[in-house]
Amino acid sequence: MREIVLSNGVKMPANGFGVYQISKEDCKESVLKALKVGYRSIDTAQAYFNEEEVGEAILESGIDRKEIFLTTKVWIDNYGEGKTYDSVIESMKKLKTDYLDLILLHQPIKDYFSAYRDLEKLYKEGKVKAIGVSNFYPDRLLDLCFSVDIKPMVNQIEVNPFNQNIDAYNWANKYGVVVEAWAPFGEGRNGIFTNPVLKEIACNHHKSVAQVILRWLYQRGIVSLAKSVREERMQENFDIYSFELTDEEMHKIMSLDSNKSLFFDHRDPNMIEWFEQLVSQRRNK
Ligand SMILES: NC(=O)c1ccc[n+]([C@@H]2O[C@H](COP(=O)([O-])OP(=O)(O)OC[C@H]3O[C@@H](n4cnc5c(N)ncnc54)[C@H](OP(=O)(O)O)[C@@H]3O)[C@@H](O)[C@H]2O)c1
Repeated sequence: MREIVLSNGVKMPANGFGVYQISKEDCKESVLKALKVGYRSIDTAQAYFNEEEVGEAILESGIDRKEIFLTTKVWIDNYGEGKTYDSVIESMKKLKTDYLDLILLHQPIKDYFSAYRDLEKLYKEGKVKAIGVSNFYPDRLLDLCFSVDIKPMVNQIEVNPFNQNIDAYNWANKYGVVVEAWAPFGEGRNGIFTNPVLKEIACNHHKSVAQVILRWLYQRGIVSLAKSVREERMQENFDIYSFELTDEEMHKIMSLDSNKSLFFDHRDPNMIEWFEQLVSQRRNK
C-alpha cells in the first residue's frame, strides 16, 4: 500500500475505497471484500447513510483499527458551531470508533466557517487525525486557508480524465493541500471505459482502463477513491503499482480534459437551490 503524506505528517493510503451509492444492505459485505482485497482506506459520509455498516465491517474484519484510514464527511445540515462537533461524535458512534483519520466538510455551502471551527476543535482534542474539505473551488479553499488556524489537509474533488480540475489541483498544491479524487471513473459516464485513447494505453500495459486512470492519478500525487460492489473489480482497481505510464501517455490523458464537471457545478445557483430543497425535505421527514 503506497501512501501520501499530509501537511501535518499523517500518512494516507494513495488509493481508497468509496461507499457512495452502496446501499445499507450491500455496504457491510462490500467493505469486508474491499478490506480482504487489501484496501486500508475507506471513505464514507453522513449523507451516504451507511456509516453503521462501514463500522460493522471494520469490526468484523478483525483488522487492527490503526491499520485502517477512515474518512467521513459532515453533511451541510449539520453545519454550525457545536452542531458539527456533535454530528461528528455521532458519526464516530455509528462507525464504532473513538477517532477518525480524516473528517471533511462535504460541500462549500451554508455556514462552513462555523463547521470548520468545530473540526479544528476535534483536531486539537485528538479525536480526528486530519481535517479537510470537499468540493471547494480554489477561491473558497484559499479564503478558508487564510482565515483558519489549521489549514485543511485535504480537498476531495471530482477528478477524472474528462474533468481534471487542473486549476484546483495547482492551487491546492501551492498551499500544501492534498487533492483526493472522487469519481475517478466519472461513474462510467461519457463512455470512459471505452475511450479509444485510454483503451490504447491500457492495451500497451496489458491493464484495464480503470487501472490506467487510477495509475495516472497516483503518478500525479492525487489520492484516488474508487467504488465497486464487485470483488474482481476491487482487485483490479487495487492493482495499480505493477506498471508505470510514460510521460507521453500521461500527456495523452491530459489532452482528454474538457474542464467541465460530469455531474454538477457548485457555482450554479440552480445547484444551491437544489441543495437547499434537499436539506428541507430531509428535515421534514
Ligand atoms: N465528496 C463528494 O462529493 C463525492 C462525490 C462522489 C463520490 N465521492 C467518493 O468517491 C468515491 C468514488 O466515486 P463514485 O462512486 O461516485 O464513482 P466512480 O468510482 O468513478 O465509479 C463507480 C462506478 O464504476 C464502476 N466500476 C468500478 N470499478 C470498475 C472497473 N474496474 N471496471 C468497470 N467499471 C467499474 C462501478 O460499478 P460496480 O459497483 O457495479 O462495480 C460504479 O458504477 C465514492 O464512492 C465516494 O466515496 C465523493
